[in-house]
Amino acid sequence: MNTAVCRMLGIDFPLLAFSHCRDVVAAVTNAGGFGVFGASALAPEVLDRELSWIDGHTGGKPYGVDVLVPGKVVGAGMSRVEIAALVPEEQRTFVISLLADRGVVAPGAASDAVRVGSAVAALGSASRNEDLLEVAFAHPIRLIANALGPPPPSMLERARAAGVPVAALVGTRKHAERQVAAGVDILVAQGGEAGGHCGEVSTIVLVPEVVDAAAALAGGGPPVPVLAAGGIVDGRQMAAALALGASGVWTGSVWLTTEEAETPPATKAKMLAAGSDDTVRSTSRTGKPSRQLRSAWTDAWSAPDAPAALPMPLQSILAEPALRKVDQIASSGHAGATELSTYWVGQGVGMLQSVKPVRRVVAELMEDLAASIERLGAITAG
Ligand SMILES: Cc1cc2nc3c(=O)[nH]c(=O)nc-3n(C[C@H](O)[C@H](O)[C@H](O)COP(=O)(O)O)c2cc1C
Repeated sequence: MNTAVCRMLGIDFPLLAFSHCRDVVAAVTNAGGFGVFGASALAPEVLDRELSWIDGHTGGKPYGVDVLVPGKVVGAGMSRVEIAALVPEEQRTFVISLLADRGVVAPGAASDAVRVGSAVAALGSASRNEDLLEVAFAHPIRLIANALGPPPPSMLERARAAGVPVAALVGTRKHAERQVAAGVDILVAQGGEAGGHCGEVSTIVLVPEVVDAAAALAGGGPPVPVLAAGGIVDGRQMAAALALGASGVWTGSVWLTTEEAETPPATKAKMLAAGSDDTVRSTSRTGKPSRQLRSAWTDAWSAPDAPAALPMPLQSILAEPALRKVDQIASSGHAGATELSTYWVGQGVGMLQSVKPVRRVVAELMEDLAASIERLGAITAG
Protein backbone atom coordinates (compact mmCIF):
# COMPACT_ATOMS: atom_id res chain seq x y z
CA MET A 1 0.00 0.00 0.00
CA ASN A 2 1.08 3.56 -0.52
CA THR A 3 -0.49 6.14 1.81
CA ALA A 4 1.05 9.31 3.22
CA VAL A 5 1.68 7.50 6.52
CA CYS A 6 3.30 4.53 4.73
CA ARG A 7 5.71 6.93 3.05
CA MET A 8 6.40 8.87 6.24
CA LEU A 9 7.11 5.78 8.34
CA GLY A 10 8.69 3.60 5.64
CA ILE A 11 6.07 0.83 5.93
CA ASP A 12 3.94 -1.08 3.41
CA PHE A 13 0.89 -1.71 5.57
CA PRO A 14 -0.47 1.26 7.58
CA LEU A 15 -1.51 -0.69 10.68
CA LEU A 16 -0.21 0.94 13.86
CA ALA A 17 -0.52 -0.98 17.11
CA PHE A 18 -0.36 0.72 20.49
CA SER A 19 0.64 -1.60 23.33
CA HIS A 20 2.21 -1.45 26.78
CA CYS A 21 3.65 -4.90 26.07
CA ARG A 22 7.03 -5.09 24.33
CA ASP A 23 6.30 -8.55 22.88
CA VAL A 24 3.21 -7.23 21.11
CA VAL A 25 5.09 -4.21 19.74
CA ALA A 26 7.90 -6.36 18.33
CA ALA A 27 5.50 -9.00 16.97
CA VAL A 28 3.37 -6.41 15.13
CA THR A 29 6.44 -4.77 13.61
CA ASN A 30 7.85 -8.16 12.59
CA ALA A 31 4.49 -9.14 11.03
CA GLY A 32 4.47 -6.10 8.72
CA GLY A 33 2.63 -3.56 10.89
CA PHE A 34 4.12 -0.81 13.05
CA GLY A 35 4.28 -1.35 16.83
CA VAL A 36 4.10 1.64 19.19
CA PHE A 37 5.32 1.04 22.73
CA GLY A 38 3.30 2.78 25.49
CA ALA A 39 5.80 4.25 27.93
CA SER A 40 3.45 6.28 30.10
CA ALA A 41 3.75 4.46 33.43
CA LEU A 42 7.42 3.50 33.14
CA ALA A 43 10.52 4.76 34.89
CA PRO A 44 13.18 5.93 32.38
CA GLU A 45 15.54 3.03 33.17
CA VAL A 46 12.73 0.52 32.57
CA LEU A 47 11.87 2.19 29.25
CA ASP A 48 15.53 1.91 28.25
CA ARG A 49 15.54 -1.82 29.05
CA GLU A 50 12.28 -2.45 27.17
CA LEU A 51 13.39 -0.52 24.07
CA SER A 52 16.74 -2.35 24.05
CA TRP A 53 14.76 -5.60 24.06
CA ILE A 54 12.59 -4.39 21.15
CA ASP A 55 15.73 -3.29 19.26
CA GLY A 56 17.13 -6.78 19.73
CA HIS A 57 13.94 -8.44 18.45
CA THR A 58 12.96 -6.33 15.44
CA GLY A 59 16.13 -6.43 13.31
CA GLY A 60 16.00 -2.75 12.35
CA LYS A 61 12.31 -2.78 11.34
CA PRO A 62 10.46 0.39 12.37
CA TYR A 63 8.62 0.95 15.64
CA GLY A 64 7.57 3.95 17.74
CA VAL A 65 7.08 5.13 21.33
CA ASP A 66 4.07 6.80 22.95
CA VAL A 67 4.57 8.95 26.03
CA LEU A 68 1.41 10.26 27.57
CA VAL A 69 2.09 13.82 28.73
CA PRO A 70 -1.10 15.26 30.25
CA GLY A 71 -1.68 18.97 29.71
CA LYS A 72 -2.77 19.54 33.31
CA VAL A 73 -1.83 17.60 36.46
CA VAL A 74 -2.12 18.24 40.17
CA GLY A 75 1.13 18.58 42.12
CA ALA A 76 3.48 19.52 39.28
CA GLY A 77 6.86 20.27 40.85
CA MET A 78 6.16 18.28 44.04
CA SER A 79 7.97 15.09 45.06
CA ARG A 80 6.22 11.73 44.62
CA VAL A 81 5.64 11.46 48.37
CA GLU A 82 4.16 14.97 48.54
CA ILE A 83 1.86 14.23 45.58
CA ALA A 84 0.76 10.92 47.08
CA ALA A 85 -0.10 12.67 50.34
CA LEU A 86 -2.73 14.72 48.45
CA VAL A 87 -5.04 11.67 48.16
CA PRO A 88 -7.91 12.48 50.58
CA GLU A 89 -9.00 10.13 53.35
CA GLU A 90 -12.59 9.93 51.98
CA GLN A 91 -11.52 8.30 48.70
CA ARG A 92 -9.04 5.98 50.45
CA THR A 93 -11.69 4.76 52.86
CA PHE A 94 -14.09 4.27 49.95
CA VAL A 95 -11.59 2.02 48.15
CA ILE A 96 -10.83 0.01 51.29
CA SER A 97 -14.54 -0.70 51.85
CA LEU A 98 -15.05 -1.51 48.17
CA LEU A 99 -12.32 -4.15 48.39
CA ALA A 100 -13.35 -5.36 51.86
CA ASP A 101 -17.03 -5.77 50.84
CA ARG A 102 -15.88 -8.30 48.22
CA GLY A 103 -13.36 -10.08 50.42
CA VAL A 104 -10.26 -8.74 48.65
CA VAL A 105 -8.92 -7.23 51.91
CA ALA A 106 -9.89 -7.74 55.56
CA PRO A 107 -12.74 -5.47 56.75
CA GLY A 108 -11.39 -2.20 58.18
CA ALA A 109 -7.85 -2.99 57.03
CA ALA A 110 -5.41 -0.16 56.53
CA SER A 111 -4.62 -2.17 53.47
CA ASP A 112 -1.47 -2.07 51.40
CA ALA A 113 -3.92 -2.24 48.50
CA VAL A 114 -4.26 1.52 48.85
CA ARG A 115 -0.66 2.22 49.75
CA VAL A 116 0.38 5.45 48.08
CA GLY A 117 3.71 6.68 46.79
CA SER A 118 3.38 4.59 43.65
CA ALA A 119 5.39 5.26 40.49
CA VAL A 120 2.30 6.75 38.85
CA ALA A 121 2.75 9.74 41.15
CA ALA A 122 5.47 10.82 38.73
CA LEU A 123 3.02 10.96 35.81
CA GLY A 124 3.13 14.43 34.36
CA SER A 125 6.31 15.47 36.12
CA ALA A 126 8.23 17.59 33.61
CA SER A 127 11.65 16.22 34.58
CA ARG A 128 10.46 12.61 34.26
CA ASN A 129 8.97 13.30 30.84
CA GLU A 130 12.26 14.82 29.71
CA ASP A 131 14.10 11.73 30.98
CA LEU A 132 11.67 9.47 29.06
CA LEU A 133 12.22 11.49 25.88
CA GLU A 134 15.99 11.34 26.37
CA VAL A 135 15.77 7.54 26.58
CA ALA A 136 13.32 7.20 23.66
CA PHE A 137 15.50 9.24 21.30
CA ALA A 138 18.58 7.24 22.26
CA HIS A 139 16.91 4.30 20.45
CA PRO A 140 16.22 4.01 16.70
CA ILE A 141 12.53 4.98 17.03
CA ARG A 142 10.67 6.01 13.86
CA LEU A 143 7.71 7.73 15.55
CA ILE A 144 7.01 9.52 18.81
CA ALA A 145 3.38 9.93 19.88
CA ASN A 146 1.62 11.87 22.60
CA ALA A 147 -1.89 11.74 24.05
CA LEU A 148 -3.82 14.18 26.25
CA GLY A 149 -2.90 17.53 24.76
CA PRO A 150 -0.34 19.12 22.42
CA PRO A 151 3.14 17.62 22.69
CA PRO A 152 5.56 19.59 24.86
CA PRO A 153 7.88 21.82 22.75
CA SER A 154 10.91 19.76 23.77
CA MET A 155 9.32 16.66 22.20
CA LEU A 156 8.91 18.48 18.91
CA GLU A 157 12.45 19.89 19.06
CA ARG A 158 14.04 16.52 19.80
CA ALA A 159 11.92 14.86 17.11
CA ARG A 160 12.89 17.45 14.48
CA ALA A 161 16.57 17.05 15.36
CA ALA A 162 16.28 13.26 15.02
CA GLY A 163 14.12 13.36 11.87
CA VAL A 164 11.35 11.46 13.69
CA PRO A 165 7.67 12.25 12.94
CA VAL A 166 5.42 13.27 15.86
CA ALA A 167 1.89 11.89 16.19
CA ALA A 168 -0.82 13.20 18.50
CA LEU A 169 -4.16 11.73 19.55
CA VAL A 170 -7.23 13.93 19.06
CA GLY A 171 -10.89 13.44 19.94
CA THR A 172 -12.43 16.56 18.39
CA ARG A 173 -11.91 18.85 15.42
CA LYS A 174 -10.70 21.59 17.81
CA HIS A 175 -8.02 19.29 19.24
CA ALA A 176 -6.89 18.56 15.69
CA GLU A 177 -6.60 22.26 14.85
CA ARG A 178 -4.54 22.86 18.02
CA GLN A 179 -2.24 19.93 17.24
CA VAL A 180 -1.65 21.06 13.65
CA ALA A 181 -0.85 24.56 14.95
CA ALA A 182 1.62 22.99 17.41
CA GLY A 183 3.36 21.31 14.45
CA VAL A 184 2.53 17.60 14.66
CA ASP A 185 3.17 15.38 11.62
CA ILE A 186 0.36 12.80 12.06
CA LEU A 187 -3.08 13.16 13.64
CA VAL A 188 -4.62 10.12 15.30
CA ALA A 189 -8.38 10.74 15.18
CA GLN A 190 -9.54 8.60 18.07
CA GLY A 191 -13.28 8.08 18.42
CA GLY A 192 -15.22 7.45 21.62
CA GLU A 193 -15.35 3.69 20.95
CA ALA A 194 -11.66 3.45 21.82
CA GLY A 195 -10.10 1.78 24.82
CA GLY A 196 -8.33 4.18 27.20
CA HIS A 197 -8.82 7.95 27.39
CA CYS A 198 -11.29 9.07 24.77
CA GLY A 199 -13.91 11.66 23.96
CA GLU A 200 -17.54 11.22 22.96
CA VAL A 201 -17.47 11.66 19.19
CA SER A 202 -17.62 8.34 17.34
CA THR A 203 -14.90 7.27 14.91
CA ILE A 204 -17.18 7.35 11.85
CA VAL A 205 -18.00 11.02 12.51
CA LEU A 206 -14.60 12.14 13.80
CA VAL A 207 -12.33 10.77 11.07
CA PRO A 208 -13.80 12.65 8.08
CA GLU A 209 -14.17 15.75 10.27
CA VAL A 210 -10.46 15.67 11.15
CA VAL A 211 -9.45 14.79 7.57
CA ASP A 212 -11.38 17.87 6.36
CA ALA A 213 -9.89 20.07 9.09
CA ALA A 214 -6.36 18.95 8.16
CA ALA A 215 -7.04 19.67 4.47
CA ALA A 216 -8.47 23.13 5.26
CA LEU A 217 -5.42 24.00 7.37
CA ALA A 218 -3.00 22.84 4.67
CA GLY A 219 -4.01 25.72 2.39
CA GLY A 220 -3.63 23.65 -0.78
CA GLY A 221 -0.39 21.93 0.34
CA PRO A 222 -0.15 18.35 1.53
CA PRO A 223 -2.37 17.98 4.61
CA VAL A 224 -1.22 16.42 7.89
CA PRO A 225 -2.19 12.76 7.40
CA VAL A 226 -4.77 11.18 9.68
CA LEU A 227 -4.86 7.73 11.25
CA ALA A 228 -8.29 6.42 12.31
CA ALA A 229 -8.56 4.95 15.82
CA GLY A 230 -11.32 3.61 18.03
CA GLY A 231 -13.21 0.38 17.55
CA ILE A 232 -11.03 -0.99 14.73
CA VAL A 233 -10.35 -4.70 15.19
CA ASP A 234 -10.76 -6.15 11.68
CA GLY A 235 -10.08 -5.52 8.00
CA ARG A 236 -13.61 -4.41 7.14
CA GLN A 237 -13.26 -1.58 9.62
CA MET A 238 -9.81 -0.78 8.25
CA ALA A 239 -11.32 -0.49 4.75
CA ALA A 240 -13.99 1.83 6.16
CA ALA A 241 -11.30 3.99 7.79
CA LEU A 242 -9.43 4.31 4.48
CA ALA A 243 -12.73 5.15 2.75
CA LEU A 244 -13.25 7.95 5.28
CA GLY A 245 -9.97 9.52 4.18
CA ALA A 246 -7.60 8.07 6.76
CA SER A 247 -4.03 7.16 5.76
CA GLY A 248 -4.13 4.09 7.97
CA VAL A 249 -5.32 2.88 11.37
CA TRP A 250 -4.11 3.10 14.96
CA THR A 251 -5.30 0.21 17.14
CA GLY A 252 -5.08 -0.79 20.81
CA SER A 253 -7.79 -3.14 22.06
CA VAL A 254 -7.35 -5.87 19.45
CA TRP A 255 -3.88 -6.73 20.84
CA LEU A 256 -5.03 -7.23 24.43
CA THR A 257 -6.34 -10.75 23.79
CA THR A 258 -3.36 -11.93 21.73
CA GLU A 259 -1.07 -14.73 22.91
CA GLU A 260 1.77 -12.26 23.36
CA ALA A 261 -0.19 -9.76 25.51
CA GLU A 262 0.56 -9.57 29.23
CA THR A 263 -3.11 -8.91 30.02
CA PRO A 264 -3.90 -10.69 33.34
CA PRO A 265 -5.51 -14.08 32.49
CA ALA A 266 -8.76 -13.36 34.35
CA THR A 267 -9.08 -10.05 32.47
CA LYS A 268 -8.36 -11.73 29.13
CA ALA A 269 -11.15 -14.21 29.88
CA LYS A 270 -13.51 -11.36 30.77
CA MET A 271 -12.66 -9.60 27.50
CA LEU A 272 -13.33 -12.70 25.40
CA ALA A 273 -16.72 -13.08 27.08
CA ALA A 274 -17.61 -9.36 26.87
CA GLY A 275 -20.04 -7.80 24.40
CA SER A 276 -19.54 -4.41 22.77
CA ASP A 277 -21.90 -2.93 25.41
CA ASP A 278 -19.82 -4.19 28.34
CA THR A 279 -17.46 -1.19 28.41
CA VAL A 280 -17.93 2.21 29.99
CA ARG A 281 -16.22 5.60 29.91
CA SER A 282 -15.33 6.08 33.53
CA THR A 283 -13.20 8.48 35.57
CA SER A 284 -12.61 5.77 38.20
CA ARG A 285 -9.16 4.74 37.00
CA THR A 286 -7.29 7.96 36.16
CA GLY A 287 -9.64 10.84 36.99
CA LYS A 288 -10.25 11.53 33.27
CA PRO A 289 -12.89 9.62 31.28
CA SER A 290 -11.29 6.45 29.91
CA ARG A 291 -13.07 3.49 28.32
CA GLN A 292 -12.68 0.19 30.14
CA LEU A 293 -14.55 -3.00 31.00
CA ARG A 294 -17.59 -2.23 33.11
CA SER A 295 -17.20 -3.93 36.50
CA ALA A 296 -18.18 -3.64 40.16
CA TRP A 297 -15.31 -1.10 40.45
CA THR A 298 -16.63 1.26 37.74
CA ASP A 299 -20.23 0.79 38.96
CA ALA A 300 -19.28 1.69 42.54
CA TRP A 301 -17.54 4.92 41.46
CA SER A 302 -20.58 6.00 39.43
CA ALA A 303 -23.08 5.33 42.26
CA PRO A 304 -24.88 8.46 43.58
CA ASP A 305 -23.20 8.21 47.03
CA ALA A 306 -19.66 7.64 45.67
CA PRO A 307 -17.00 10.27 46.29
CA ALA A 308 -15.83 12.26 43.30
CA ALA A 309 -12.96 10.79 41.30
CA LEU A 310 -9.74 12.73 41.91
CA PRO A 311 -7.83 14.80 39.34
CA MET A 312 -4.79 13.34 37.57
CA PRO A 313 -2.57 11.78 38.84
CA LEU A 314 -4.27 11.29 42.25
CA GLN A 315 -6.97 8.87 41.04
CA SER A 316 -4.30 6.65 39.44
CA ILE A 317 -2.21 6.74 42.63
CA LEU A 318 -5.26 5.42 44.47
CA ALA A 319 -6.66 3.06 41.84
CA GLU A 320 -3.58 1.35 40.37
CA PRO A 321 -2.27 -0.43 43.49
CA ALA A 322 -5.83 -1.47 44.43
CA LEU A 323 -6.61 -2.81 40.96
CA ARG A 324 -3.26 -4.59 40.78
CA LYS A 325 -4.16 -6.41 43.98
CA VAL A 326 -7.60 -7.18 42.54
CA ASP A 327 -5.97 -8.67 39.40
CA GLN A 328 -3.58 -10.83 41.45
CA ILE A 329 -6.39 -12.28 43.53
CA ALA A 330 -8.76 -12.64 40.56
CA SER A 331 -6.16 -14.85 38.84
CA SER A 332 -6.89 -17.57 41.42
CA GLY A 333 -10.60 -17.43 40.59
CA HIS A 334 -11.67 -15.28 43.61
CA ALA A 335 -15.28 -14.26 42.87
CA GLY A 336 -15.23 -10.81 44.52
CA ALA A 337 -11.98 -9.83 42.84
CA THR A 338 -13.25 -11.05 39.47
CA GLU A 339 -16.35 -8.84 39.85
CA LEU A 340 -14.12 -5.82 40.53
CA SER A 341 -11.47 -6.42 37.88
CA THR A 342 -11.44 -4.05 34.96
CA TYR A 343 -8.97 -2.91 32.30
CA TRP A 344 -8.94 -0.41 29.46
CA VAL A 345 -10.57 -1.79 26.34
CA GLY A 346 -12.79 -0.36 23.62
CA GLN A 347 -16.18 -1.35 22.27
CA GLY A 348 -14.45 -3.55 19.69
CA VAL A 349 -14.02 -6.04 22.55
CA GLY A 350 -17.34 -7.56 21.48
CA MET A 351 -15.64 -8.82 18.31
CA LEU A 352 -12.68 -10.41 20.12
CA GLN A 353 -13.67 -14.06 20.39
CA SER A 354 -10.46 -16.06 20.86
CA VAL A 355 -6.79 -15.77 21.78
CA LYS A 356 -4.62 -15.57 18.65
CA PRO A 357 -0.95 -14.92 17.97
CA VAL A 358 -0.20 -11.37 16.83
CA ARG A 359 1.00 -12.48 13.40
CA ARG A 360 -2.36 -14.12 12.74
CA VAL A 361 -4.26 -10.97 13.73
CA VAL A 362 -2.08 -8.94 11.34
CA ALA A 363 -2.51 -11.51 8.54
CA GLU A 364 -6.30 -11.55 9.00
CA LEU A 365 -6.44 -7.76 8.93
CA MET A 366 -4.49 -7.78 5.65
CA GLU A 367 -6.71 -10.48 4.10
CA ASP A 368 -10.00 -8.94 5.27
CA LEU A 369 -8.94 -5.49 4.09
CA ALA A 370 -8.15 -6.87 0.61
CA ALA A 371 -11.46 -8.78 0.52
CA SER A 372 -13.39 -5.66 1.59
CA ILE A 373 -11.79 -3.51 -1.09
CA GLU A 374 -12.57 -6.21 -3.67
CA ARG A 375 -16.19 -6.39 -2.50
CA LEU A 376 -16.55 -2.62 -2.86
CA GLY A 377 -14.97 -2.80 -6.31
CA ALA A 378 -17.48 -5.49 -7.30
CA ILE A 379 -20.38 -3.30 -6.12
CA THR A 380 -19.27 -0.34 -8.20
CA ALA A 381 -18.46 -2.56 -11.19
CA GLY A 382 -21.78 -3.97 -11.43
C1 LIG B 1 -5.02 -0.82 27.50
C2 LIG B 1 -4.92 0.49 26.79
C3 LIG B 1 -4.05 1.46 27.28
C4 LIG B 1 -3.89 2.66 26.58
N1 LIG B 1 -2.98 3.58 27.03
C5 LIG B 1 -2.66 4.64 26.24
C6 LIG B 1 -1.56 5.49 26.56
O1 LIG B 1 -0.87 5.31 27.56
N2 LIG B 1 -1.27 6.49 25.68
C7 LIG B 1 -2.00 6.69 24.54
O2 LIG B 1 -1.66 7.58 23.74
N3 LIG B 1 -3.06 5.91 24.23
C8 LIG B 1 -3.40 4.89 25.05
N4 LIG B 1 -4.45 4.07 24.71
C9 LIG B 1 -5.26 4.38 23.50
C10 LIG B 1 -4.63 3.75 22.26
O3 LIG B 1 -3.47 4.46 21.93
C11 LIG B 1 -5.57 3.76 21.07
O4 LIG B 1 -5.85 5.09 20.67
C12 LIG B 1 -6.90 3.05 21.28
O5 LIG B 1 -6.67 1.80 21.88
C13 LIG B 1 -7.61 2.85 19.93
O6 LIG B 1 -8.89 2.33 20.08
P1 LIG B 1 -9.21 0.75 20.20
O7 LIG B 1 -8.82 0.41 21.61
O8 LIG B 1 -10.65 0.66 19.97
O9 LIG B 1 -8.36 0.05 19.18
C14 LIG B 1 -4.66 2.90 25.42
C15 LIG B 1 -5.56 1.93 24.96
C16 LIG B 1 -5.71 0.74 25.63
C17 LIG B 1 -6.69 -0.29 25.11
